[in-house]
Amino acid sequence: MVSVSLMCLVLLSLWGVRGEVAPNFDNCKMFFFREKPVSGLNIALSTPDETNTQKLVNPEKCLSAYKAASPAYICQTYNNQYYFATLYDRARRIPLYSAYKMDMKAKPERKGSIVNYEPQLVHPELAQNMMNKSRCLREIQNYNKNDCTETEKKYKPNYKLNWSQAVDEDYSSSKGNYTRGHLNPAGHHQQDASQATMTFTNVAPQNPNINNDQWNKYEKNLKNNLTQGCREMYVVTGVVPNKDIVPSKEWLNNRVNVPSHYWNAFCCTDNKNKPLRSGGALCPNTADGQVTEYNTVAELQNVLINEMNFGNNFNIFFNRCQISKGSGSSYLLTLVLFIIFL
Ligand SMILES: *[C@@H]1O[C@H](CO)[C@@H](O)[C@H](O)[C@H]1NC(C)=O
Ligand SMILES: *[C@@H]1O[C@H](CO)[C@@H](O)[C@H](O)[C@H]1NC(C)=O
Ligand SMILES: *[C@@H]1O[C@H](CO)[C@@H](O)[C@H](O)[C@H]1NC(C)=O
Ligand SMILES: *[C@@H]1O[C@H](CO)[C@@H](O)[C@H](O)[C@H]1NC(C)=O
Repeated sequence: MVSVSLMCLVLLSLWGVRGEVAPNFDNCKMFFFREKPVSGLNIALSTPDETNTQKLVNPEKCLSAYKAASPAYICQTYNNQYYFATLYDRARRIPLYSAYKMDMKAKPERKGSIVNYEPQLVHPELAQNMMNKSRCLREIQNYNKNDCTETEKKYKPNYKLNWSQAVDEDYSSSKGNYTRGHLNPAGHHQQDASQATMTFTNVAPQNPNINNDQWNKYEKNLKNNLTQGCREMYVVTGVVPNKDIVPSKEWLNNRVNVPSHYWNAFCCTDNKNKPLRSGGALCPNTADGQVTEYNTVAELQNVLINEMNFGNNFNIFFNRCQISKGSGSSYLLTLVLFIIFL
């Protein structure tokens, strides 16, 4: 009996770390306000077909991610725990946004550096945990042991990893013209939650000036000033991809789309999970980019919809995290009137 339950436990825990890139955020909706994920963003490019697979043995199995849907819904997992959510554009090899809850309590700290990759983007059957390059390559190697002979160049672990996501060499190839710009910043968290932001699926090429200066200041302001009085703060940070829809010289290393802008939206709630404060910001991804702040999420959404070609149905937060001014007192008034009427 004991051994049966033990086996079940072992099987369950194996099940827990294996996983697919699901077609939605069901496993990590808790990172969105009222558990309602961002909706209506249909701008991801579909994954380009890997050309010339004709001579390959078993391409469907050995290159299973090559036909996977884009975007990928990633529940960012580190040491078997969920930390935030990312919508990843496989063809552009950048996140479109990351959604998270700000660490409201302790003093945040930056932990570690960007070293992690997502084996689940290489083969949906592989581990859901993010992991460093050598471990990730080992996962792919183990997968390959079943009929994917590595004498085929396209089955080699490095080739598959390169194909499925942006890698370290892409960023170093720019020789400082672009930095690794976190969407979910390490500095809004501590310890493992901070370490969990260190994945290549949570960064996009960002101009070093705004990464170190304007955007950084905005992130600090969000953490230090705009959280005043909030019970929770839900944050979504995203990018506007540049216009080229196929890899070009404008892309990093001809492989990674360089966003034209970074955007941010926040929704802070009171102890009844009602909106207390909300707003957002937009910043061009250029050396002299200036942050424009918005007092409502609706204003930011309108700019993204009308000027940046986000779809008409794009919606970041449930009811745009609108502050319902005086709704409490008008409810009270109705109640009082009702009692008088009686
Ligand atoms: C990668 O991660 C494994 C396990 O977490 C660790 O043992 C190894 O030292 C790491 N390798 C590098 C290069 O950091
Ligand atoms: C992976 O991509 C990097 C960056 O382009 C490159 O330096 C490296 O040689 C590639 N490795 C393989 C095995 O394709
Ligand atoms: C960096 O940017 C400069 C100016 O636009 C350009 O001339 C140079 O080729 C770029 N370097 C790399 C490595 O992309
Ligand atoms: C917080 O707000 C004050 C007053 O507006 C401002 O001077 C300060 O720079 C802000 N702090 C951060 C970290 O941006």
